Amino acid sequence: MKIDLLIANARQLVFFENGQLRTIENGSVACANGLITWFGPAEAAPQEFEPVETLEAADCITLPGLIDSHTHTIFAGSREDEFELKLKGATYQEIAARGGGIKNTMRATRKATRDELTATGLERLRNAIAFGITTIEIKSGYGLSFDDEIKMLEVIRSLRSLVPIDIASTFLGAHTLPPEFSENRQDYIGLICEKMIPYIAENKLAEFCDAFCEAGVFSIDETRTVFETAKHYGLKLKLHADQLTNSGGAELCAEMGAVSADHLETISERGIDALAKSNVVAGLLPGCSFFLHVQYPPVLKMIEAGIPIALATDFNPGSCMTQNLQMIMSIACTQMRMSPAEVVRAVTVNAARALDRNDIGNIKTGMKADFALFRAPNYQFIPYNFAQNHISHVVKNGKIIFSA
Ligand code: NIG
Ligand code: FE
Repeated sequence: MKIDLLIANARQLVFFENGQLRTIENGSVACANGLITWFGPAEAAPQEFEPVETLEAADCITLPGLIDSHTHTIFAGSREDEFELKLKGATYQEIAARGGGIKNTMRATRKATRDELTATGLERLRNAIAFGITTIEIKSGYGLSFDDEIKMLEVIRSLRSLVPIDIASTFLGAHTLPPEFSENRQDYIGLICEKMIPYIAENKLAEFCDAFCEAGVFSIDETRTVFETAKHYGLKLKLHADQLTNSGGAELCAEMGAVSADHLETISERGIDALAKSNVVAGLLPGCSFFLHVQYPPVLKMIEAGIPIALATDFNPGSCMTQNLQMIMSIACTQMRMSPAEVVRAVTVNAARALDRNDIGNIKTGMKADFALFRAPNYQFIPYNFAQNHISHVVKNGKIIFSA
């Protein structure tokens, strides 16, 4: 039987079955037509397999390809000047109030051409692949005008044909109020709802709509208005919720049937209750707490309440300037006390849920043949040996797309 790729004799195969992490020591996986056709103990592999290509994985462990379900990968400029201000004690909100923060990156991104944004985006996506990412979400949100938001989303679309991984795109026009509208907030909400969302939906430029629901940024009512319009136009919802202060973002996500509620550093008991009764995934971004030196989300309470937890980098120039999702897994273990099994689940199965995908995030017959192979003795080693890149090979749709 012809197969395209056989990953042979992996030291450990890591997958999820009935919600539990399982391992097969010395396992193999067969892929054909971009999908997983067989996996199991190496010695049980059917004799009649005729692989076009074999990846000998005896010194590697094989996990589902990692999914970075929340990033701001497209932006121009960088903000190391603000980093220094933060180290001297300025808060994220103080920097934003002085016209820095998101507005700083907005100015640079508006000036950048499509070609420039595409070139830096491409370099960053290659970097993401080298960290084991096979599916990534990218948001707009640094254009904040009709033309510049569309520019960002079109750059994201054009990157799809330049890299072998899947890119989910999210419209984040409600990231912050652009300076032109500082005296008339309602008009910006109007621009988002009457011009941007209809155009984006009609041209299929985004799958999700997101907003930064935060004191001094967008209120619950403004977010609800944007979300109602987005839903009406068929966009799915994700939210920057309860990050720096609690404004009931988690409850709004539950009420409106969002796919994920992200951040949640300041989620309340009511918010936890609301999420537990819903299908919303909690998309945690502990790299921000680490970088901004603020509180971490109460993840153990959320797990206790049965809320599915995804972890992502939130890669952006203001609150988390890293693309290393393996480092985020370490931070989640050491700073929030998640277990290695929970963090692996949070960047695979649950990250797929956070992007509303059911064909990725696990090693299972019929799923996309996306894998991250790590030079490690077991999966616990990845968060344990922190701040390293353990990747040996990355496979997407049954093809080897990266070798270290
Ligand atoms: O997820 N909180 C809002 N958005 C980003 C930060 C964006 C920026 O500072 O440029 C975040 O943390
Ligand atoms: Fe973010």
